[in-house]
Amino acid sequence: MAFSLSGVLKSLGLGQSQEGSILGIDIGASSAKIVQLRSSKGAAILETYGEIALGPYGQQAIGKAVKLAPEKIAEALVDVMREANVTGRSGGLSIPFSSSLVSVLDVPRAEPDQLKRMIPIEARKYIPIPVSEVTLDWFVIPREEGEQSAFDRVQKETPLQAKGQEVLLVAIHNETLKNYQTIATNAGLKINFYEIEIFSAVRSSVGHGIAPILVVDLGAATTKIYIVERGIVRSSHLLSAGGQHMTENLARSLGWEFEKAERVKRERGLANTNAYSPDENDKIKSALLSTLSRIFSEVNRVLLSYGQRYNKNVSRVVLAGGGASLPGLKEVAHESLSAEVEIANPFSHAEAPAFLEEVLREIGPGFAVAVGIALRKLKGS
Ligand SMILES: Nc1ncnc2c1ncn2[C@@H]1O[C@H](COP(=O)(O)OP(=O)(O)OP(=O)(O)O)[C@@H](O)[C@H]1O
Ligand SMILES: [Mg+2]
Repeated sequence: MAFSLSGVLKSLGLGQSQEGSILGIDIGASSAKIVQLRSSKGAAILETYGEIALGPYGQQAIGKAVKLAPEKIAEALVDVMREANVTGRSGGLSIPFSSSLVSVLDVPRAEPDQLKRMIPIEARKYIPIPVSEVTLDWFVIPREEGEQSAFDRVQKETPLQAKGQEVLLVAIHNETLKNYQTIATNAGLKINFYEIEIFSAVRSSVGHGIAPILVVDLGAATTKIYIVERGIVRSSHLLSAGGQHMTENLARSLGWEFEKAERVKRERGLANTNAYSPDENDKIKSALLSTLSRIFSEVNRVLLSYGQRYNKNVSRVVLAGGGASLPGLKEVAHESLSAEVEIANPFSHAEAPAFLEEVLREIGPGFAVAVGIALRKLKGS
């Protein structure tokens, strides 16, 4: 499936300009998404976007998570760029949370130069593989004004913490980066930067608040849960349940093929329709809810434990990822979660013709990572 905006944009006199266009590319487990933005007078203009299911490139159904060789993924990217009339060739690429390691280190206060030497040594305590096999990146977490320790507010400050500082450390396996380089080369893309998908999703899904917010990225095979506070990711969790499990439950419960279950899930979701008997409607709903209730109870657990640990109330949950487009999800989430619920609307950060607003809102959650990565470059951060 691919969508193209270029036709309509041209007819509105907003032709694509290759120069200055920036791509955000997200290779998910079940589909690849690409977004092309351009900066104009400080605003981000949406030039085009596309999505392509990866399942068929590995003889699997649409909606299934697949492991593909880099060459196959490059093929899919070339296809989606053609179908969506992508003209840009450079931008950023997201790295899956599952291929990365994110941790918060407590280190003594030090000058940047000293940190450069200190962090690879400290990192050994957190990384289960040799540091020489990973690429490290980090940044110092700024302290909250008037607060002793930003990360451990309720704990009494120890002498070490008093002199220490917190560093957000990310590590990516060199092998993973090499694979992405192969994909980029084969697809004719120039990748200016890589970013772990957490940070991209947060940029496009969460506004500039200071209050803690929980972001749920409902993917195909996994669900990612992050807590963001003052724009900083403070806590992250990976859950091995996602949209694919909903489809599998539905297929099993109604004796359908995966393809049919996937279609019905996307079209009707949790809403009752006349197309099915009351008994079937109930079965469809409970098949979808069985995965959702697992996810929601994990979200509630994270909300509770963060609240207790830092003595703060996380009052808002933002749902992103393709799974967040499930019709009727917001209502169920509202009933099940002990916080306000919102569906991510990443395209709201970019300017697009008004008549596209509704479709962009509907498909938006799945593009949270792709939009976020393109925004990073435009915003120059
Ligand atoms: N309209 C919809 N209603 C319900 N589910 C949907 C809808 N659109 C997509 N999905 C589901 O979303 C899931 C894919 O989400 P997404 O594209 O965010 O995952 P991914 O990025 O490929 O995977 P991951 O993040 O785990 O690497 C699939 O299970 C798909 O069935
Ligand atoms: Mg994803």
